[in-house]
Amino acid sequence: MSAGGDPRALIRGLKQTLRELAAEGLDTLPRPPALPIDASPAPTAPLDRAPETGATAPIAAPVATTSAPGIETLEAIRTDLGDCRRCGLCETRKQLVFGEGSPQASVVFVGEGPGADEDRTGRPFVGRAGQLLDKMIEAVGWRREDVYICNVVKCRPPGNRNPEQQEISTCRPFLDRQLRAIAPRAIVTLGKPAAATLLGRSIAITRERGTWREWEGVPLMPTFHPAYLLRSYTRENRQAVWDDLRAVRARIDGS
Ligand code: URA
Repeated sequence: MSAGGDPRALIRGLKQTLRELAAEGLDTLPRPPALPIDASPAPTAPLDRAPETGATAPIAAPVATTSAPGIETLEAIRTDLGDCRRCGLCETRKQLVFGEGSPQASVVFVGEGPGADEDRTGRPFVGRAGQLLDKMIEAVGWRREDVYICNVVKCRPPGNRNPEQQEISTCRPFLDRQLRAIAPRAIVTLGKPAAATLLGRSIAITRERGTWREWEGVPLMPTFHPAYLLRSYTRENRQAVWDDLRAVRARIDGS
């Protein structure tokens, strides 16, 4: 089907073409940093085991950093946020946590909101939950720097309470803009609030995790939040997250 006038479809098509050209060895493009996507070992280990080899597959396309016309850059979105005072979270945060990773990531992980470690460092998912997220990412054969990681709200809710609806609604347009700028091939939501926000409805995470959904036409996989996994570190829950991420990896590799 033609991409028509949809700029996100156009940019996805452009990224795919660039990936193919790079794979054919066009030397005016930077080379992928390590293995070609489909040459990495098939993931076979559940989350509590290290990957079979140290090899990881790059999942970010080797493309230029400029955006197609009409698609804004992550830098422009960050500039627009500025020293954000759009909701009350600005009163208690130390710093805003915008998100980090590859602007060309094939997969974006979306959490709920920064905790104390993230508030202190300005980086998403760097505390205990973040360390588990890193293991989850690596277990599937990816690298943290090749994916993109961000949150529904960019500032820490005091005492790690859940973000309020008004705080989510205020921050939401920036999340949408980040996702449109990256145009990933899949989104992984971590926990119920992230899935509910992007799907625009309440969800039962235990029922809906592991089932493909969509955000603006992008495949979205709801899975458990790593903080929940830490609290409830059962074989069943670890297996569930492992299955969900393997499904995402398979879908990206097959597309
Ligand atoms: N939990 C989240 O949802 N996001 C973070 O960045 C860290 C912990």
